[in-house]
Amino acid sequence: MLSYDEILAHLTEPSGDRLERLRRRADALRRERVGDVVYLRGLIELSNHCRRNCLYCGVRAGRRGIARYRMTIDEVLQAASLAKRFGYGTVVLQAGEDAGLSDETIAEIIAAIKQKFSLIVTLSLGERPDSAFLRWKEAGADRYLMRLETSNRRLFEAIHPSGGGDGGVAKTTDRVAMLGRLRQMGYQIGSGVMIGIPGQTTEDLARDLMLFSELRLDMVGSGPYLPHSDTPLGKAAEALALPQDDPRRAALLRQAGWRYPEADRQVVPSNEMAFAMIALTRLLLPGANIPSTTAIATLDGQHGRAMGLRSGANVVMPNLTPTKYRALYEIYPNKAATLETPDQTHAAAIRQIRDAGLIPESDRA
Ligand code: 5AD
Repeated sequence: MLSYDEILAHLTEPSGDRLERLRRRADALRRERVGDVVYLRGLIELSNHCRRNCLYCGVRAGRRGIARYRMTIDEVLQAASLAKRFGYGTVVLQAGEDAGLSDETIAEIIAAIKQKFSLIVTLSLGERPDSAFLRWKEAGADRYLMRLETSNRRLFEAIHPSGGGDGGVAKTTDRVAMLGRLRQMGYQIGSGVMIGIPGQTTEDLARDLMLFSELRLDMVGSGPYLPHSDTPLGKAAEALALPQDDPRRAALLRQAGWRYPEADRQVVPSNEMAFAMIALTRLLLPGANIPSTTAIATLDGQHGRAMGLRSGANVVMPNLTPTKYRALYEIYPNKAATLETPDQTHAAAIRQIRDAGLIPESDRA
């Protein structure tokens, strides 16, 4: 078992031979424990309405400037039918915390997907009351993804203002407890963090990994933090990237309105760091489902996905959202596959999996 100190050593400037050796170890363990088949999860981004005001996110309630959409039930079923046609085993229903998507509507969608396509249904719908989680389980949902974003409580609070868009948001959230309750209800549970949040340290990431292991997560998806210039944290990140003595720095930081004492201590949000996180996650949770995430593919459109898959990941989540909505689900800029059709996104995913020398789940269908 990896110790905290060993984890920390691997996260300190991951590069060169040391990173290569770590990736190879994780790659070998992935092969031994979960094999060479890469699972495909069709991602359907149901709605970009959100009552939250997360400082990093491009669909936060406070962001004007973008049109809001909510898919109809028919559109969702249409997208799910593509997952079936492409030979995926799972769909992931993801959305902002949209009060306009009622618990009952979501239950109806889940039941229809199970009944028509018998796909595994994973939910990624943010925080809702337990009554909703129970209702959705009853309707047939199988898994729930709830990222911790960071296990550093102070940093979590600094990037997640309480109050949200409509005041109806819980003041404090305890996502660890929430994940525990979801598991109790019979869900498989997944989580993950953003890598390179301003103020986040390698020690924070090492603790995140220890927590993934303690929680015995079934799924872990992490990706680099990507600054969005139309968000407070994105503006702060741009300011922090300037040299300490640059006069624009203080002004920009003030404008961003984001204060965090250790803002300057930041892990680099690089793909190398993401690969190290994937590899360490695999070593800590050998049987887990670990995606090579869209944020990684966004940083390196050519090789990111495949490199993630050669670092211990065994899952890809191709986007099946109708093209007309994709640009609006802009949680960060230049998101991979934004201009593609679902067919193109599927083809690219298959290519990236083969590039990694692995076997797409759909080949077995
Ligand atoms: N950069 C990287 N990841 C982001 N997410 C949201 N905004 C950003 C960003 N600017 C991630 C969060 C969220 C998931 C759906 O997208 O981790 O849980």
